Amino acid sequence: MNKIFYLTTPLYYVNAKPHIGHAYTNILCDTFARYRRFRGEKVFFLTGTDEHGTKIEKAAREQGKDPRQYVDEMVPQFKELWSLLDIRYDHFIRTTDEEHKTVVKNVLQQLEKAGDIYKAAYRGWYCTPCESFWTKLQLAGGLCPDCRREVQELSEENYFFKLSKYQSWLVSYIKENLEFIQPEIRRNEIISFLKEPLEDLSITRPRSRLSWGIDYPTSKEHVVYVWFDALVNYITAAGYSVDATRFENYWPADVHAVGKDIVRQHAVYWPIMLHALGLKPPKKVLAHGWWTMAGAKVSKSRGNAVDPAELVKKYGVDAFRYFLLHEVTIGNDGAFSEDLLAERYTTDLANNLGNLWFRIASMLEKYFGGKIPVIRQSHTGDDLLEKSFRLWDDVNQAMKNYDPRTATSKIWEVITRANQFIEEKKPWVLARREKDSDDQGLEKVLATLVECVAHVGGILSPFLPETSEKILKRLQLESELTLDQESFSKRWIKEKNKIERGEALFPKLDEEKAAS
Ligand code: MSP
Repeated sequence: MNKIFYLTTPLYYVNAKPHIGHAYTNILCDTFARYRRFRGEKVFFLTGTDEHGTKIEKAAREQGKDPRQYVDEMVPQFKELWSLLDIRYDHFIRTTDEEHKTVVKNVLQQLEKAGDIYKAAYRGWYCTPCESFWTKLQLAGGLCPDCRREVQELSEENYFFKLSKYQSWLVSYIKENLEFIQPEIRRNEIISFLKEPLEDLSITRPRSRLSWGIDYPTSKEHVVYVWFDALVNYITAAGYSVDATRFENYWPADVHAVGKDIVRQHAVYWPIMLHALGLKPPKKVLAHGWWTMAGAKVSKSRGNAVDPAELVKKYGVDAFRYFLLHEVTIGNDGAFSEDLLAERYTTDLANNLGNLWFRIASMLEKYFGGKIPVIRQSHTGDDLLEKSFRLWDDVNQAMKNYDPRTATSKIWEVITRANQFIEEKKPWVLARREKDSDDQGLEKVLATLVECVAHVGGILSPFLPETSEKILKRLQLESELTLDQESFSKRWIKEKNKIERGEALFPKLDEEKAAS
């Protein structure tokens, strides 16, 4: 059996509702997943929620709720947003799932048996109001880095995982597998971090200080540290230690998409945990940048988060997806502003793609009563069709590098060219001329345009699934596509296909929207 293409998002903390940063990772992964399915590959796309630890326990308590009740109430907010954004995941994992707890325990027992875990005193600085433990390095001028209040030096017994034992293995692995951490800037950061000796990782917290976590299998006084618990999710979902056949088909994951702030956990702790278990590291940790607003990272705590659901309501899901996929190269930060989104909506979507569709459909209605002319062998002589067929290779090339910005740019080059083609060929002039000649010019021009817009509609499906489906359905073409290069580079329009113009693909923004 062919290995499944397995990709993951981080598990989101549930202590606030999801914002544009979380939406971004899920849209990226959804696009990668749809793209692979579109090529006929089997895909397993995992997302979910991170539900244990101090942050969550504290947020629950602030609302006077039991953590279990609190997390159960928060999770639907994530699922609702993913559905609104057309995120077609295959599984939603919660770290509170019973199966996950079993796998975390199995992992810990295996590591204990292998001699990779030991118990020792953990010295650190504790901030009572924040209930956070900090290392000396994390302190800000001797104060709590979160609230800038005094901290107390404390020592507690914890279990430690021997990260240091595997440091040299990891360094060689990273250097020998350049595709493992991308982009390069993040790889270099990790390589320079690994120049210093790694400290072993404290993987428990005393239950007296934090009770909301997975029980440590061999000590009633400890619960598992939230990051250790959360990282294991990627193998839980693949069936580790419970379903060997499934695991063999799924692991290693093809890509873990993460934000640049959590690369260390994914590219240092996680591969070492896996290696200690005798498992392969994921093939790729792909780190994207941050969305900022007014110069600061969009975050729940800063309260400057724009609500993705509101934006979708105003501009539609595909406009939001297009903006996030197209605006930045993966890895770079992006400045978000609603003005910029409105501008892209108007220029790229309404005026370019929307207008192309409208012009083609209107001309077909006007000149052919909605029937679509078919390109016959003799209908050649323009590069537009060639360019449309070539989109397969161009998009493929970009998506091999996880680069939806380049992929969408290539698609928009063809859309722009098609609009120019209409200006050059002037079908309205040809229509007048044909009345008194048997010249097939008009038919050729429109047949070419309609093939072009059909192929654009097809290749858009991983990126703008709703728009893609509209275009294909309005041309009476199959909208759940699975394609390869050969089937893409064919003409799709058959004798007797009819066109339905439909509503504008991207209606004009009203004054209020455009101005906000
Ligand atoms: N729970 C951990 C991840 C565990 S994965 C086993 C966590 N959760 S988080 O909710 O705080 O963040 C999840 C992801 O959102 C991270 O990848 C983070 O980089 C991303 N983002 C948070 N704010 C962001 C922006 N403003 N822009 C882009 N992504 C950002 O970390």
